Amino acid sequence: MFSKDGKAKDIATPRICDVVWHDGEFIKWDDARVHVMSHVLHYGSSIFEGIRCYATKRGPAIFRLKEHMQRFLNSAKIYRMDHTWKLDQLTAASVELVERSGLDQCYIRPILFRSLDEARPAFGVNPFPNPLACYIGAWDWGKYLGDEAIEKGVDVCVSTWNRLTPNSMPAMAKSGANYMNSQLIKMEALVNGFAEGIALDDRGYVSEGSGENIFMVSNGMVLTPPLSSSILAGITRDSVIQICHELGITVKERSIQRAALYVADELFFSGTAAEITPIRSVDRITVGAGGRGEMTEKIQKAFFEITKGERKAPGDWLTYVNATKKSQPGNNGNQSDKTSGVSAPAKSAEEPVLKYQTAASITD
Ligand SMILES: Cc1ncc(COP(=O)(O)O)c(C=O)c1O
Repeated sequence: MFSKDGKAKDIATPRICDVVWHDGEFIKWDDARVHVMSHVLHYGSSIFEGIRCYATKRGPAIFRLKEHMQRFLNSAKIYRMDHTWKLDQLTAASVELVERSGLDQCYIRPILFRSLDEARPAFGVNPFPNPLACYIGAWDWGKYLGDEAIEKGVDVCVSTWNRLTPNSMPAMAKSGANYMNSQLIKMEALVNGFAEGIALDDRGYVSEGSGENIFMVSNGMVLTPPLSSSILAGITRDSVIQICHELGITVKERSIQRAALYVADELFFSGTAAEITPIRSVDRITVGAGGRGEMTEKIQKAFFEITKGERKAPGDWLTYVNATKKSQPGNNGNQSDKTSGVSAPAKSAEEPVLKYQTAASITD
C-alpha cells in the first residue's frame, strides 16, 4: 500500500460514495466541507468510527454496525459531546448511505466533531461554545496493510513511541486526537521499512498497533493485551475472542512483554481496516515459521466466512442492507435529501439500545 519510505500513498483504491449523511440529511460529497477555523482542526476535537460493509450473496452487509455505533456514542459521551443522535438513527443512516452508494462493499466513516459557529465564532480551547457536526461518509477500501498481507503476513517493529496513558488520552475513546499518537507510530514504522508499528503501554507492556489490536499464539493458547494496556476495545478483537470460544480455542487477556512477541508461535493483528493480518516478523526477528500460522489461518478463515455471510456468526453481526430496507420501510430516520431534492420516507420506531458490552468490553 505504501512505498518503503512511506511518502507515496495509495490513491488508486477508493471508489467514493458521492453522497454524505450530514445531521439527518444526505448531501453531495462536494458539499461536505468545514471552515478552516473549526475547533476540530486546531484542537483535534473529533470522535469517529470505522466500519466495514462486506459483499455477500444477499447483497452488502454491514459488520457489527450496532456495536460500532455504540462505541461512537460512548466516545462522544467521554468527550462531553452533547448531541442528540440515537443509536437507531445512526445505524439507519449508515444502511441508507450504503444503499445510496450503490457499492457492494465499502468502509463507512461516521464522524462527530466540534465545528465553527460562523455567526458567533469561538477560538479558545474550551470546546463548549462550538457547534457539533455529525457526518457519515463511505468509500471502497482495499486491504489496509497491502494485498498480500492477509496471506503472507507483515513485517513490523516495536515503536519507540508509547501508547497513550489512561489518564492523559483515553485509548478507549476513538477520538481523532488519539491518532496523532498513531501517526507517530505509523510514520516511524514506514520510514524504517516496516508495514506497521506496535506500541508498548506506559509500563512497557505490549499495547497495540497504530490502528489494530494484537493477538499472540503461544502453546496452543491465544493471548491478547487487556484494556488496561491502553488499547482501543476493538470490535474485531471482540469478534476474534468470540470466534475462538466457538472454535474451542483457549483465549485469554494477558499483559504481554515485548520479548514474548519475538518468541511467540504466531502473531496477528485484528481491526476493521486490517481485518485479521498475520505478523511474520517483529524488529526483523522471524515469528514462528515466518508466515501465516495455523491457528491464525483457522481464525481468519472463520472470520472471513462470517463476514461473507457463509458461516453463522456467534451473534447478530451482519446488517443486510437490502433486507433491512425491505423489512423496515422508512427506516432511514426521516433523513431528507439535498442531493436530488426528494424527501425520504418517515422514520421507524426506535430500536432498543444494544450496549457494546461483551468479552472485550469497557473494563478489565
Ligand atoms: C488504535 C486502534 N486499535 C485497534 C483498532 C481495532 O478496532 P476495531 O476492530 O474496532 O476496528 C483500531 C481500528 O479502529 C485502532 O485504530
